[in-house]
Amino acid sequence: MSIFEVLEFNEISDERGALVVLEQFSNLPIEFKRVYYIYGTPKGVERGFHAHKQLRQVAICLMGSVDILMDDGKNKEIITLNSPAKGLLIDAMQWHEMRNFTNNCVLMVLADDAYDESDYIRDYNEFKGFFE
Ligand code: TYD
Repeated sequence: MSIFEVLEFNEISDERGALVVLEQFSNLPIEFKRVYYIYGTPKGVERGFHAHKQLRQVAICLMGSVDILMDDGKNKEIITLNSPAKGLLIDAMQWHEMRNFTNNCVLMVLADDAYDESDYIRDYNEFKGFFE
């Protein structure tokens, strides 16, 4: 049993290529109010290093590849995202660290609420403290 959920999106493929549909409440388990994407990440850069108290997100690697370390407070697991047909559910209270971005990586994230710095837990010891 994995500590994170990977969503497998249906690829509508024909001789013209592929198309993936993301539809709220159909194949996406979150409402989405915000979309952001990360790209142009220089070699060796690591991002993330936080959890959210409430926010739920789905990360989709549209191009290239990135490794995401997921930590639910008890266990850690690394997933490689390298397909636009896969989504990683980053649930509330899941610490995540992103590394090994390829040069061409475009990581899109759908979030179920507006940006709110007070929802972030950026201190790992504070995060661990919630599980004691
Ligand atoms: P941050 O969440 O630290 O990025 P990462 O988790 O990838 O390391 O955000 C980087 C900067 O962007 C920070 O200054 C906050 C800002 N930001 C917004 O203004 N709105 C947003 O929706 C997000 C995700 C970040």
